[in-house]
Formats: sequence, structure tokens, C-alpha cells
Amino acid sequence: MERAMKTHLKIPKMVAANFLSMLLLMDMIVSGFRFGSGVDIGLTMDYYLMSCPFAEQIVKNNVNRALQADPTLAAGLIRMHFHDCFIEGCDASVLLDSTKDNTAEKDSPANLSLRGYEVIDTAKDELEAQCPGVVSCADILAMAARDAVFWSGGPVYDIPKGRKDGRRSKIQDTINLPSPAFNASELIRMFGQHGFTAQEMVALSGAHTLGVARCSSFKPRVTAADTTADSDFLKTLSRTCSRGDNAEQAFDETRNSFDNLYYNTLLRRAGLLFSDQALFVSPRTRNIVNGYAQNQAMFFFDFQQAMVKMSALDPKDASKGEVREDCRRIN
Ligand code: HEM
Ligand SMILES: *[C@@H]1O[C@H](CO)[C@@H](O)[C@H](O)[C@H]1NC(C)=O
Ligand SMILES: *[C@@H]1O[C@H](CO)[C@@H](O)[C@H](O)[C@H]1NC(C)=O
Repeated sequence: MERAMKTHLKIPKMVAANFLSMLLLMDMIVSGFRFGSGVDIGLTMDYYLMSCPFAEQIVKNNVNRALQADPTLAAGLIRMHFHDCFIEGCDASVLLDSTKDNTAEKDSPANLSLRGYEVIDTAKDELEAQCPGVVSCADILAMAARDAVFWSGGPVYDIPKGRKDGRRSKIQDTINLPSPAFNASELIRMFGQHGFTAQEMVALSGAHTLGVARCSSFKPRVTAADTTADSDFLKTLSRTCSRGDNAEQAFDETRNSFDNLYYNTLLRRAGLLFSDQALFVSPRTRNIVNGYAQNQAMFFFDFQQAMVKMSALDPKDASKGEVREDCRRIN
């Protein structure tokens, strides 16, 4: 019943979103399919058209099945894709398990409770049965994140495919992830290193409309009585932390819905992480936050464009990567 209603409610939005993707597509044709550096190694929308025509559908079915059972995994998948792309490019390095000679990214304290590995594994198993050795884990993760955005009520968009899986995953590389203690200048700088504008950084941060952070990620704000936070909100955080370092707090009131409420929490000075609130504190980004808080369609449009760009960060070609047989191990 609830599902039927959800589907029904989605129809007008899908039409709107399809219209937006059409505009986006036209824009891409005009600009010659420039996807960061992705185009150089031949990332394309129809990469699996001949070699594995049902790849997209198989991933989508697996994501939908998993999210029906546990809607909170949407956040996990999107975050995992972000961490993957910011370290060594989108090459599924985040999925590799540690070995006896190597401690992988996922075992860093900065893995920050990544979730959703099983979803990728089951999709991969099905894909290997249908078209062995064809669909990379990096593509599966990028598609799964995209499907998770849509499943949660966010924009629908198409991503180019053809990424190869990397062979390196080192715990020390996670230093390249942004810290929740960063201010806006530091966030702008770090995202700038990956080619993003301040506006794109603010749009991508809107992924925090989904999911939770654990006390350990915001405890310093409580201890230091962070003046950028509303004082009642700080009390809420303090109460959460009284349940321990792993106690969870949602980023906004609707932790499983992809919407623009995240930006509205920033206006109320109730941003969960210091780095979230920093986007409203800084005059460099405040107006962008105001814009997204007022206009969800604008947020959705900028978010999908920034996600397509993020999903094409430093993809590897066949000389530098492979199609893993098992997403947790190099071949
Ligand atoms: C702007 C810089 C960013 C910082 C400093 C940051 C930091 C964090 C931290 C500290 C957490 C909580 C981890 C925990 O306590 O378990 C978190 C959660 C999350 N992040 Fe970010 N993040 C940033 C950008 C992004 C981006 C660009 C995305 C995706 C496009 C993203 C997606 C998520 C999601 C979905 C969650 C919730 C995960 C869950 O509920 O399992 N974040 N982030
Ligand atoms: C994250 O890293 C910690 C060690 O810092 C480890 O205990 C935990 O299993 C890792 N989580 C995942 C999902 O790999
Ligand atoms: C942001 O943080 C950096 C590093 O701690 C500091 O040098 C800078 O002054 C801060 N910027 C603002 C605007 O607070």
C-alpha cells in the first residue's frame, strides 16, 4: 500500500526529472560529452549495450530489493561512492578487503562506518552469472549510488560507464577525505583539488539529506560548546552523545528521504557536523545554501550534475585497471 502510494507520488516528479535529464543530455551533446577526464578513456552511456545489456537493470533490481529491506542503506551506498571517487578516482578501491600485507581504505578509522558492501556483492554475483568478467565493480558502485538517490526520492539521472577497477587500496590514502572539522575554506580547497566549484561542493554536501552521523563525528562541537550551533541543538547533540560514541543522530528530520531539508537545518543553525554548519557560516557559501533551501528543484538539478562529474573522477583504463571477479579482491 505504502509502496503503491510512493510510486504514484513519484510520477509527476519523474516527468520533471526526465525533462531535466533531457536538458542535461542536450547540454552534453552541445558541449561534446565532456565528463572531466572520463571521456578520454571512453566512458559512455551505453558502454554495456552489447556486452551486458541488462547490467543497469540488474543493479537497479538489487538496489531496490536491498533498500526495501533496509532503507537506511541508501545513505551507505551514496557515501561509499563518494569515498571511492575521492581516493584514487572511482575505481572501487573502497571495496577491497585488507590482506595480510596491506591494510585497505575500508579499515581506516575514516571509513566512518561505511555500509552497503553486501548490496554490491549480490549485484556483482548476478552480473558475473549473466556476463562474466564484463561489468566493473566501480561501475556497479556508481550505478548503485545513482539508483539509491532515485529510490529515496531524489533526481533521476544517467551516468557514463566503462570505469575499470583499481589494484591499490591503502589505509593512508584516506587522508584525502574531508574532515567533519573542516571550515568552508578548507572544504572549498579540498573539493577544488578534485575540480569542483564551491557551488558543486555545496550541492554534493546535500547528500547529507540522507543518513546519520555518530557521536564521535560531532562530539568536539559539544565539548567546545561550538558557537556556530544553536544552543538547544547543542543540547540535543549532548544527549545523543550521552549514549556513547556510536550513538547516531540523523542529519535532518527525514533521514531516508532525499529532499532539501538538510539546507533548512543549516538556516536554523542545526547542521549536524561542524562542516555542515560551516556552509552557512561562511559568506562564500551562505547564499548557495539559501538558494537550495528555498528551491529543491535547483538543488536536484545541481546535485545530479555534480554527481555525474564526481562519478567520472580519474577513471582508470584497461592499462591501469581490470574488471575484478570479486569486488573485495584484486584478480
Ligand atoms: C563536504 C564534506 C564532507 C564531509 C566533511 C563529510 C563527512 C561525513 C561524516 C563525518 C559522516 C558521518 C560518519 C559517521 O559518523 O558515521 C558523513 C555521513 C554521510 N556522508 Fe558525508 N561528508 C562530506 C561530503 C559528502 C558527500 C559529497 C557525500 C555524497 C555525495 C556524502 C554522503 C554522506 C552520507 C550519505 C552520509 C550518511 C551515511 C550513513 O548514514 O550511513 N558526504 N559524512
Ligand atoms: C572500519 O574500520 C574499523 C577500524 O578502524 C574496523 O573495525 C571496521 O570493521 C571497518 N568497517 C568496515 C565496514 O570495514
Ligand atoms: C579555516 O581553517 C583554516 C585551518 O585551520 C584556518 O587557517 C582558516 O583561518 C579558517 N578560515 C576561516 C574563515 O575560519
